[in-house]
Amino acid sequence: MRGFSAGWLEARADWDRAALSRKVLARLASWCGEHREPLAIADLGCGTGNGFSVLDGVITVPASWHLVDADPGLLDHARRRWTGRTGSTLRLTRCDLARADLDRLLAGTDLVTAFALLDLVSAAWLERLWRALGRSGTAVLAALTYDGRLSWSPTDPLDGVVRDGLNRHQRRDKGFGGALGPRAASALAHRARAAGWTVLVRRSDWVLHSPGNRAGFETLFDGWVSAAGELHPGLGPELAAWRERRLGEKHLVVRVGHRDLLALPR
Ligand SMILES: C[S@@+](CC[C@H](N)C(=O)[O-])C[C@H]1O[C@@H](n2cnc3c(N)ncnc32)[C@H](O)[C@@H]1O
Repeated sequence: MRGFSAGWLEARADWDRAALSRKVLARLASWCGEHREPLAIADLGCGTGNGFSVLDGVITVPASWHLVDADPGLLDHARRRWTGRTGSTLRLTRCDLARADLDRLLAGTDLVTAFALLDLVSAAWLERLWRALGRSGTAVLAALTYDGRLSWSPTDPLDGVVRDGLNRHQRRDKGFGGALGPRAASALAHRARAAGWTVLVRRSDWVLHSPGNRAGFETLFDGWVSAAGELHPGLGPELAAWRERRLGEKHLVVRVGHRDLLALPR
C-alpha cells in the first residue's frame, strides 16, 4: 500500500470539499432520508475522516459510521479528530482492504463510501467489492475518483509528459494488483447499471488556482514529477525544472478530473 500523509490529506481537504458534486450529494441525502434509521455506513480508505466530515453534514438521519483504513497513523489521527465531536456513532477498524473478506466487513452496512480510493484498486478487487455490494444490496458512493483529465492554464511544453506519466503510473499496482486508475469509476458504473441499479455519475474536478495553498501544490507537483520520473528516468532535470516553473507561476489554473458516482440498488 502506498503511504498517504495526514498533512497531504489535510492540504487537499478544501479542494475535495469544493469539488464534490452537489447533485450527487443531494441525491444521496434524499436517499438517506428515505431509509430506515439509523443508517449503517462504512467509509473505506477513510484516511483521517475527510469523507465522514463532509457527509456528517449532508446526511440528516442518525448514522453509525465504520471508518476503515490500513494505515494505523491515519486512523489514530481520525480518532483524535472526531471522538466526542460528532453526534454520529463512530467505529474505526484497521484493515487491509486488498485482503479483507468484504462480505464479512460490510455485513449489515446500508451504504459504502469511498473518497479518492477507487482509482487505486484493481479490476479483480472491484469485482469482489461489487459482488459483496450486490449480494447485500448495499448502496455505494465512490467520490473523487481520478479520471485521467489533467490540464494547466497557461500551458507548458512538458505538461503532456507529466500527464502521460501520471496516467501510466495510475495503472500500476497500489496494493490491490494492477490499478484501474482513470477507468475505475466507469467500470463500477458499468457493473451497477448492468444490474439495473440507479447510477448517477458527475464530474467533481479540482480547479486549483496557484499560488494559493502552497503546501498542497508542492505535494501535488512532487507526486506528479515523481510518477513521470519513474516512467521517464532520463527526464529528471527537465521535470524538476517544470516543477520550479509551475510553482513560480503567478496565475496558474490546474484542473484535475474526478468523478463522483452514486449507485443505489433497486
Ligand atoms: C487518497 S487517500 C484518501 C483518504 C480519504 N478517503 C480522504 O478522502 O481524505 C487513500 C486512502 O486509502 C487508504 N488505503 C490505500 N490502500 C489501502 C488498503 N489496501 N486497505 C485499506 N486502506 C487503504 C490509504 O491509507 C488512504 O487513507
